[in-house]
Amino acid sequence: MIEDTAEFLRVAWEAANAAGEIIRANCDQPKTVDYKGTIDLVTSVDRQSERRITEVLQRNFPGHSILAEEETTVERARSEYRWIIDPLDGTTNFAHGYPQFCVSIGLERNGEVIVGLVYDPLRHECFRAIRGQGATLNGKSIQTSTVKELDKSLLATGFPYDHREYADFHLSYFKAFMTRCQGIRRGGSAALDLCYVACGRLDGFWELKLKPWDTAAGALVVAEAGGELSNFSGEAFSIWGNETLASNGIIHDEILAILEEVGNR
Ligand code: IPD
Ligand code: CA
Ligand code: CA
Repeated sequence: MIEDTAEFLRVAWEAANAAGEIIRANCDQPKTVDYKGTIDLVTSVDRQSERRITEVLQRNFPGHSILAEEETTVERARSEYRWIIDPLDGTTNFAHGYPQFCVSIGLERNGEVIVGLVYDPLRHECFRAIRGQGATLNGKSIQTSTVKELDKSLLATGFPYDHREYADFHLSYFKAFMTRCQGIRRGGSAALDLCYVACGRLDGFWELKLKPWDTAAGALVVAEAGGELSNFSGEAFSIWGNETLASNGIIHDEILAILEEVGNR
C-alpha cells in the first residue's frame, strides 16, 4: 500500500511537471479564450494541460477512472481508483497574466482521496500529501499555522462564477470577516488557497460552490498538514459539497460562528 501511493505520487508529479512546462511556456503568450459562462473562461492551455496530464496518467494506469474539469471523463467500472484533475486552477489569473495559478491532481480510492498534488509552475512549489503520511512543500514537511485568534489571522476567500448575480450575498461574508481578522486575500486559485492554509501562509479559507477538482488535492494537503476542514455548519467536508471551510483548526470555531451568523441572516 505504501509503495503504491508513492508510485501514484511519482506519476502525479510526472503529469503535473509536464503540464507545468506547457503552462509556463504559454503564460506570456497571447491566449485563445473560450467562454463556459459570462465570466467563466477556458483557454487552449487549460485543454492542452489536461490532455498532457491524462496522457501520462492513462499510460501509467490504464485501468483507472478519470474526472477532469474540461473534457475528460473515463469510467472504468471495475476500478477502485479515480483521478480528479484541475489542469489549470486560476484560469482567470492565467488569462490576464496574473501570476497565481496551479495544476491540481488528486487520486480517490473507493471515494476517499488518498493522494494529492498541487503544483505552482511559476514559483516551482509542489505541495504533496498522502493520506496518513503528512504533507510536504518541495519535500519538506509542512504544518498549519499556530495563530490562536481570528483577530490575528490572515484569511482568504474566492467567489464563484455567479458573483455578478449574487454580489451582495458573497460580500456579506466578506464584510463580516473584514472587521474581525487582519486581512482577507482573494488569490484566484482555490487549490493554492488551500495549500497556503496547509503551510501556514494563511490561517483560514472559505468559499462556496467549489468543484471536486478545485479541492480534491488541496483538502488532503490541509488535512495532512494538521488543519481542519468542514462545511459552513461544521459538518464533515466533502469535495462534492457546496461549502468549503479550511483552517488551522485553532480558529475553526470562530470562523464557523461567523459563517453561521451570516448564513442565518
Ligand atoms: C476557480 C479558482 C478560483 C475560485 C473559483 C474556481 P478555475 O477555478 O479556483 O479561485 O474562486 O471558484 O472555479 O476556473 O480557475 O479552474
Ligand atoms: Ca478550479
Ligand atoms: Ca480549471
